[in-house]
Amino acid sequence: WTIYALSAFGGYLLGSIPFGVLTTKLAGINIREVGSGNIGATNVLRTGRKDLALITFLGDTGKGAAAVGLAFALLLSLDQATRQVGMALAGGAAFLGHLFPVWLRFKGGKGVATFLGTLFAAAWPMGLLAAGTWLLTAFIFRISSLSALVAAALIAPLALVFDQPHAFIVMALFMAVLIYVRHRDNIRRLLKGEEPKIGKKKTAEV
Ligand code: G3P
Repeated sequence: WTIYALSAFGGYLLGSIPFGVLTTKLAGINIREVGSGNIGATNVLRTGRKDLALITFLGDTGKGAAAVGLAFALLLSLDQATRQVGMALAGGAAFLGHLFPVWLRFKGGKGVATFLGTLFAAAWPMGLLAAGTWLLTAFIFRISSLSALVAAALIAPLALVFDQPHAFIVMALFMAVLIYVRHRDNIRRLLKGEEPKIGKKKTAEV
C-alpha cells in the first residue's frame, strides 16, 4: 500500500506541472487570456508560438509517461498484476494532477496530452492507436477537441478488444469520462459548428 500511495502521489506531483502555463509565462504571455483560456498545447498554439506549443505537448505527454515509468520502477520487484495496478494508479493520478493542479488552485487543463503519455508508457500499442485516431481525425476535420473526443471514446473499448489488463482499461475509461466532462464547452461549440480549427488564432471568448 505504501508503494501504491507513493506511485499515486508521485504521479499527481508530476502531472500537476503546468507546462503550458510555465512556457507561456516565460515568454510573457498569459495563456488564460488566449483562445479558450485552456493551458494545453492546442491553446498555446493559438498564441502563434509553435515552439512553445511543442514544448507544452512534449512536457504534458512526458509527465504522464514519467508517472507510469516511476510506478513501474517502484514496483519492479513485485508481481505483474500489482505492477499494472500501480502503473494505472500513477497514470490516473498524473491525469488528475493535470486537471486539478494544486499550484493553479486546482484549475488545470483538459488532460488530452497527459492521457496520451500515460497510454504510451503503460501499453505503447494502445498509445499508438490513440495517437493515430487523434491524428486521423485531426487530419480530416482539423479540430483538436473533436480529435480528442474520438480518441478518448475509442480507447477503452479497443483496450477491451485487445485484451489489455483490467487496471489499464479502468484507467483509460476513467480518463475518457473526465475528458468528456472537461470538454463540455468544446462539445457545445462543436454542436453549434463554432469550434475553431487547429492553429487558428483567436481572442478570448470565455
Ligand atoms: O487538448 C485540449 C483540446 O482537446 C481542446 O483545447 O483549447 O481547443 O479547448 P481547446
